[in-house]
Amino acid sequence: MRSSHARALIRPLALAAAMTGIPLVTAVPAVAGGVVVGGFPIDVSQAPWTVALASRDRFGGTRAGQFCGGVAIARSLVLTAAHCLTEDALGAPPSRVRDLRIIAGRTDLLSGEGREIAVRDVRIDPSYEATTNSGDFAFVTLAGELPQSAVVAMAPADDPAYTPGTEAFVSGWGDTTGGGDYARRLRAARVHVLPDDSCARAYPGGPEGTYRAATMLCAGEVAGGPDGCQGDSGGPLVAGGRLIGLVSWGSGCGRPGRPGVYARVSEVAQALQSTPGATEGP
Ligand code: ARG
Repeated sequence: MRSSHARALIRPLALAAAMTGIPLVTAVPAVAGGVVVGGFPIDVSQAPWTVALASRDRFGGTRAGQFCGGVAIARSLVLTAAHCLTEDALGAPPSRVRDLRIIAGRTDLLSGEGREIAVRDVRIDPSYEATTNSGDFAFVTLAGELPQSAVVAMAPADDPAYTPGTEAFVSGWGDTTGGGDYARRLRAARVHVLPDDSCARAYPGGPEGTYRAATMLCAGEVAGGPDGCQGDSGGPLVAGGRLIGLVSWGSGCGRPGRPGVYARVSEVAQALQSTPGATEGP
């Protein structure tokens, strides 16, 4: 297991638990700050493209095995973060995780709402670099189909939704406080797309990670507050009804001057949209 500080910053919930030996699930506090830190509860119908990646075998059943987020970009294709599906994160290659699945249409992880759909195939983007987290994309082909109403469109590179100042929403079942308080019910936080500058200054390289504007997107609030957090990785950042980012990494959660870093969806949007049969996997 790599143990550089930079790795530590981007490790998913799963790895955090493996490293500390603490069981994955902490009781959900009565009052939680945030996704998502500084967020609010939502019903999955408000962001139906938000799915949970889960394996009860690997992560236990107390939160239905949820360990990362994902987003439906076609009826049988889910986009998530590459770092969620590495051997480091899962403790085994994804093909060996027999009960790897997505959970869709479910607000409360412990309810029977929505559907659990098995994963047929996982493909890590060839440009993914584990050391920098650049190209943090993975494509998950499902064994079944989601309703078309659950699918969100990806914003192409020239979409104004990438413009700094744009209001965006991040959603997931991640840590709500930065202290390991993983949510049982889906939450969202309202953030803004920030200029690349804000992340370049926050993450110039070295222990906190390196921001690369070509493949990453910076979002949050300058003063801190609302942000994605551990366990939200791979989940959606949506602006104006279009997907612009996937939760990727950051230094802590919601800290002033340390915005959230997202995988920039325009990097894969065009390739996917121009691939015939994208629903079969890129
Ligand atoms: N790497 C984390 C995960 O795997 C996501 C961290 C996001 N952090 C942030 N401050 N936005 O769940």
